[in-house]
Amino acid sequence: MTDILKINRGGPTKLKFPSDDAGDWTAQNYVDPRSQYFFEFRDVVKAFDERPVLDHVSFAVRHGETCVIMGRSGVGKSVTLKHIMGFLRADSGRVTVDGEDVTNYTEEQFAEVRRKVTMVFQSGALFDSLTVRENISFPLDGQSGLTPEDIDEYVAKIAHLLEVDDVLDKLPSELSTGMKRAVAIGRAFAQNPEAILYDEPTTMVDPIMAGHMGDLILRLKEAFHKTSIVVTHDTRLAKKLADTVVFLQEGRVTCFGPWGGFENSDDPFIVNFRKQDELVPALDKTL
Ligand SMILES: Nc1ncnc2c1ncn2[C@@H]1O[C@H](COP(=O)(O)OP(=O)(O)O)[C@@H](O)[C@H]1O
Ligand SMILES: [Mg+2]
Repeated sequence: MTDILKINRGGPTKLKFPSDDAGDWTAQNYVDPRSQYFFEFRDVVKAFDERPVLDHVSFAVRHGETCVIMGRSGVGKSVTLKHIMGFLRADSGRVTVDGEDVTNYTEEQFAEVRRKVTMVFQSGALFDSLTVRENISFPLDGQSGLTPEDIDEYVAKIAHLLEVDDVLDKLPSELSTGMKRAVAIGRAFAQNPEAILYDEPTTMVDPIMAGHMGDLILRLKEAFHKTSIVVTHDTRLAKKLADTVVFLQEGRVTCFGPWGGFENSDDPFIVNFRKQDELVPALDKTL
């Protein structure tokens, strides 16, 4: 039986954060020998045509933890993720992935990072001419050591978790937006990455489907314990998934830490952000 089939691989899940309990921030809490964090942004600055988008952004995500990056549309959430994948480069500051400073990595070195870290794109980017089953199994086909039975078993497991087991023989064009997205997430997991990045997984679907997508992602979080970053402006989704929150505002991180810090923040901008989301649940863009 190959590693990829061990869905409950465990790993460090409930890791402490400094601000959870400032007095208990000791070396004993470091679970992973390679590094305390899987992702780290240190003082990252990024400007486009001299217009700063990220202005000394710092935050870190521990192994096995889910960090939700929130903020209004256009604030730099996707730009942040693109620095991890090497699609954008920082003007200054450092970006660390799995304990390695990737800031000045070559394109070739980033290919390795992209094997470790998979990004689920909004569009889903499925292969139109392949069935759902073939789309999910695509990253597994031809991998040495995997028998067709291993692959079938894996696809069945992941399809069940994502509730697409009834549509395995359909084509993407026959699926709803929500189901397409679930299949794209299934394919991302089939790559067996160490970490997953989700960019706005609940936009462009109705509130009921958005809630459902959140439940599916939560189920995967609980089954795989993969280090994750979820970019969203949807506070309901954030509440469901977040171990920690990064709130971006005008290029800066104005709140970083466990969910409670965001939920109880009395920063007027954050209070307003929370309120708007309650008032306009069906809106898929923040105002
Ligand atoms: N490649 C690029 N070139 C120029 N400007 C960009 C580029 N990518 C993003 N931006 C700008 O950076 C800002 C942040 O974008 P983005 O991270 O996509 O926002 P969001 O928080 O909605 O994901 C926006 O003003 C956007 O226009
Ligand atoms: Mg975006």
